[in-house]
Amino acid sequence: MIGSMLPTIAWDGDAIIMVDQRKLPVTETYVTCRTVTEVAKAIRTMVIRGAPAIGVCAAMGLALQAARSTATGTRQFATEFQKACDLLAATRPTAVNLFWAIEQMKQALAQGVHAGESVEQLRNRLRLTADRLHDEDVESCRAIGRHGATLVPTQARILTHCNAGALATAGYGTALGVIRGAVEAGHRVTVLADETRPFLQGARLTAWELTRDGIDTTVITDNMAAAMMQGGLVELVVVGADRIAANGDAANKIGTYGLAVLAHAHGLPFYVAAPWSTIDLSTPTGASIPIEERPAREVTHVGTTQVVPDAVAVRNPSFDVTPARYITAIVTDRGIIRPPFALDAHAPARH
Ligand code: MRU
Repeated sequence: MIGSMLPTIAWDGDAIIMVDQRKLPVTETYVTCRTVTEVAKAIRTMVIRGAPAIGVCAAMGLALQAARSTATGTRQFATEFQKACDLLAATRPTAVNLFWAIEQMKQALAQGVHAGESVEQLRNRLRLTADRLHDEDVESCRAIGRHGATLVPTQARILTHCNAGALATAGYGTALGVIRGAVEAGHRVTVLADETRPFLQGARLTAWELTRDGIDTTVITDNMAAAMMQGGLVELVVVGADRIAANGDAANKIGTYGLAVLAHAHGLPFYVAAPWSTIDLSTPTGASIPIEERPAREVTHVGTTQVVPDAVAVRNPSFDVTPARYITAIVTDRGIIRPPFALDAHAPARH
């Protein structure tokens, strides 16, 4: 089945194994994490990346930490757990799925402690919660794919940015989930994948996973998108998101905002696809979304080759914010939301 075979993250005995996304597509190698410190490093250094995948990875990291804990009493167990939460929360600031997943795990622990469970029972509860978050993420992506497919014409050339695919989630993808959903619904889809400077998620990862699925994909450099639209070679744009504010403003990989403005100028639909865990109702507008600044080396070098002179200033904001007014619709696992984006009206009931 399309998108089902990609190994983003999994348990390997009592360790966590993930494909090293820094090395794809040249080599398919795997990183094994045996401690929560190693999990935090894997997130920070982008062995694993993409908002939902980061969240799932953090949840699994907390379950790993719980399994490794030598605490005999629940108080010590909970103190160690909180330290692990703090470590993971400090890895990447923009993807709200990270904080959402940590919160889910904290709530699971609190419920177990409240029920008077033993350390062993708490360990099991945390492992089950992490596994549930993993499986629910795949289900959410598939639902996004089903909803999103209804927005795709029966023949469509789709532009996407960065990698919001199986690799950026527990499986199937969000923006690429929409593309996969359309293909599975029998639509004839071709994809233009933005290279996505500086980390090249589009050229390396989107191109890799879509071609593995046999989906017709062409890589372009980021500065070609305008000309492609002007030439009538694009029917719609679909991207993922790292955090969507309550008013619909959406943070995503740097360059997304520019694409949204271009789509608007060319009268093309611009869709954002994300699971509900990406929506942050506590952030009123995009202006409050923290934007990660990543190391200058990602800009000064392509691979190991330096392309920028020494001693020149470099900026590397990893994300930008697309104002809601440029977004045609947000495709979530709960359905398609159109402007005006009163997202709290669609919030899942608390349970
Ligand atoms: O820096 P990255 O690679 O983690 O950024 C990823 C993105 O911007 C994705 O588009 C976003 O996280 C959505 S992934 C389904």
